[in-house]
Amino acid sequence: MSAVPEQVFAGAPVVPVHVGIIMDGNGRWATARGLPRAMGHRAGAEAARRAIEGAARAGVGWLTLFAFSSENWRRPEPEVRELTGLLGHYLRHEVSQLVRDGVRLRVIGDRGRFGPDTVEAIHQAEARTAAGTRLNLNVALSYGGRAEIAAAARAIAQAVAAGRVSPAEVDEALLEQHLATSGIPDPDLVIRTSGEQRLSNFLLWQSAYAELVFLDVLWPDFTGAHLVTAIEEFSRRERRYGARLG
Ligand code: FPP
Repeated sequence: MSAVPEQVFAGAPVVPVHVGIIMDGNGRWATARGLPRAMGHRAGAEAARRAIEGAARAGVGWLTLFAFSSENWRRPEPEVRELTGLLGHYLRHEVSQLVRDGVRLRVIGDRGRFGPDTVEAIHQAEARTAAGTRLNLNVALSYGGRAEIAAAARAIAQAVAAGRVSPAEVDEALLEQHLATSGIPDPDLVIRTSGEQRLSNFLLWQSAYAELVFLDVLWPDFTGAHLVTAIEEFSRRERRYGARLG
């Protein structure tokens, strides 16, 4: 990956600060080729590399990839093993490249559901990339937006019960402080591939005002050009945050 920002847009689009991507369509991509679903996930990992590179080139500050949802644990055991193995492999073998590219990696989600080796790989990957400043990459693993909000509510309820916080102090800012993304700007653009038009429990709180762009491409076919298309679409939209402009 080049360290020099590249001219990736024809005009001067508004580049989102934080892009979230729901990477969908690995299974369909594989099935369409008569391949096992595992091959779709492997091709999906290549597409994730292209998305990371594209985001860094475009000047995006934060990229959150939805790699494994809380609901994905309910898939057949061999597929869960393939997916978790692939993600563990990625964490172990991609870190040096991320460091070279100035990418800081963080994992959000319930890491307690992974085995100790994967938990250690997550810890190592976060520690080794901590000095990266070019792109902040969040990988959502065993992540669910409702579970994240429930965990925040539970932590606040405990603080109230212990007398450390009064009910009147419970507001949006306090809840935000208890989310996995605390301190991270909300996504202003959420992209979903594969033609499906749902959030599927991805960054529910944080995406309240995000622009949603649905692309008719299966995730393994995703390239930097698709990211540019989504950012250009984002640029054309008027953002009002519920207010009237002008
Ligand atoms: C959805 O395809 C994709 C996932 C379950 C996420 C898996 C993503 C990867 C393996 C990319 C790897 C990411 C990193 C950060 C290395 P699907 O199986 O739901 O597809 P379908 O809807 O066509 O069945």
